[in-house]
Amino acid sequence: MKYDDGKAYDQSTQGPYYDLWFEMIEHYLNIYLPEKGQLLDAGGGTGEFSIRAASLRKNLSCVNLDISQSMLDHAEQKFKEAELLPRVGNMLGDIQKLPYQKDSFDYVMCLGDAISFCSDVELAFSELVRVTKPGGNIHLSVNSFWGNYHAMYSQSSKPQGISFDDVRKYMTTRVLHINGQSTGCRSFTLEELNTWAKHYKLIIRKRFAAPVFPPPAEWLKDESISAEIRDLQYRHCENESIMEFGNHLNIIYEKGR
Ligand SMILES: C[S@@+](CC[C@H](N)C(=O)[O-])C[C@H]1O[C@@H](n2cnc3c(N)ncnc32)[C@H](O)[C@@H]1O
Repeated sequence: MKYDDGKAYDQSTQGPYYDLWFEMIEHYLNIYLPEKGQLLDAGGGTGEFSIRAASLRKNLSCVNLDISQSMLDHAEQKFKEAELLPRVGNMLGDIQKLPYQKDSFDYVMCLGDAISFCSDVELAFSELVRVTKPGGNIHLSVNSFWGNYHAMYSQSSKPQGISFDDVRKYMTTRVLHINGQSTGCRSFTLEELNTWAKHYKLIIRKRFAAPVFPPPAEWLKDESISAEIRDLQYRHCENESIMEFGNHLNIIYEKGR
């Protein structure tokens, strides 16, 4: 997938499904973000989560780093409109080779699958750990391997052009395929995310799926049930027995002191 048009990307993430997803991430950011310090939004794209984080914490400075200049250009315009410049700024760069010294940031977030588009996800994760201060947090959100797999089997996957051949390719590559084409987006199991904690001696502070029950848009638009759906999400999104059938797996690690 190409991220070469920031405005088009933001248009593609409009609607009740994305509202719910963003709202759930913001809910957890509000719990885990430090009151002050330095935040890195790695693969932050058009800056949606940088804006939300900086609005939640007025004493936090934030760098929105991305490999796509177009995404950053659009982010810059949004930061200006939100009057967040220069507390929130942009940096052109690659997650796999972060232009920062070790132990630079209090909170490092890499949301909306940004790590999943890196050709070397292990290297990318090691970079996120390297630049996090001891005691700081690393917050990842990635596509759930089993969530995608489950969705590929559903009736609604057929109109999207998903064939059993796509299912086979997905199983061997972990990269979502639609109509024979790779989306370039790798997905992860909870087990893999847990393995990183062991490897880097990180403490797992929280795991949740957002959303854990990916709802049809019509349900979310229906005011009589949308509050109930939200309540269900928050009550069950941390339940490990169903989390992997959700959409985005989120994990918040703490780097050892
Ligand atoms: C799905 S978008 C998510 C953007 C943002 N994190 C969000 O959730 O709204 C993925 C982003 O990752 C960026 N990206 C992909 N590979 C990258 C890399 N190696 N280094 C930095 N950014 C990268 C893309 O340019 C894109 O902006």
